[in-house]
Amino acid sequence: MSLLEVRGITKRFGGLTANRDISFQVAPGELVGIIGPNGAGKSTLFDVITGFLAPDAGTVLLDGSPITGLRPDQVSRRGVARTFQKLRPFAHMTALENVMVGAFQKTADPAEARDRALGALLSVGLAGKEEAHARVLSTGQRKRLELARALATRPRLLLLDEVTGGVDQGSIPGLVDLVRRLHGEGAALVVIEHNMRVIMDISQRIVALHLGEVIASGPPRDVARDTRVIEAYLGQAYHHA
Ligand SMILES: Nc1ncnc2c1ncn2[C@@H]1O[C@H](COP(=O)(O)OP(=O)(O)O)[C@@H](O)[C@H]1O
Ligand SMILES: [Mg+2]
Repeated sequence: MSLLEVRGITKRFGGLTANRDISFQVAPGELVGIIGPNGAGKSTLFDVITGFLAPDAGTVLLDGSPITGLRPDQVSRRGVARTFQKLRPFAHMTALENVMVGAFQKTADPAEARDRALGALLSVGLAGKEEAHARVLSTGQRKRLELARALATRPRLLLLDEVTGGVDQGSIPGLVDLVRRLHGEGAALVVIEHNMRVIMDISQRIVALHLGEVIASGPPRDVARDTRVIEAYLGQAYHHA
């Protein structure tokens, strides 16, 4: 059985269809990459999966049971964690306190939450930064902090929204290694990633979105060669030039 099944998800914002009839599945322990130009609907899809947005149509199933309609904290308690593309740490709280917020999703015991948060900070390479305020951390460190917050909930499924986005080139390999390690430890991951080389390298399967629709899905090499995927990215390439 799939760990996650996204079944016919449609999400509209007024006249704009951000997600149109999107379906895909994630097996336990699998790493699925989501690609697509800006505005393709990737972050919206994460919002729908994690309960931040209600879809206009379709169902999200976890272990075969619908989770559509649950609140974000309820989805989190079922073992689904996510990071946000736009970072929003509590700037005046320390790194440790920020991560403890995540840990409290799963335990009410402060000592236990602290232990889990310390473990998560260690695993993302932020040991020594526990008492630093989030606002003094670099973008790369804040991305790690965001990851630690998600990890502290002990997820079975981790959704990562552009972990390498906005990070200096030098920090990218470390973040990619971290994602690889989490996958190696058995977590199932769905990873939105703008860096094509990275996503093609780490994903077992890729789902490509364009204008809210799935235009291709399958093994990375097949998706990379797909005509519709190449066309979708041409305008983007010029856009970024
Ligand atoms: N809260 C919102 N209200 C209105 N439009 C939105 C909202 N969130 C996203 N959109 C629009 O939905 C489309 C998909 O956005 P998004 O999911 O953020 O794309 P991606 O993450 O692939 O760049 C875009 O056209 C975006 O402007
Ligand atoms: Mg996005």
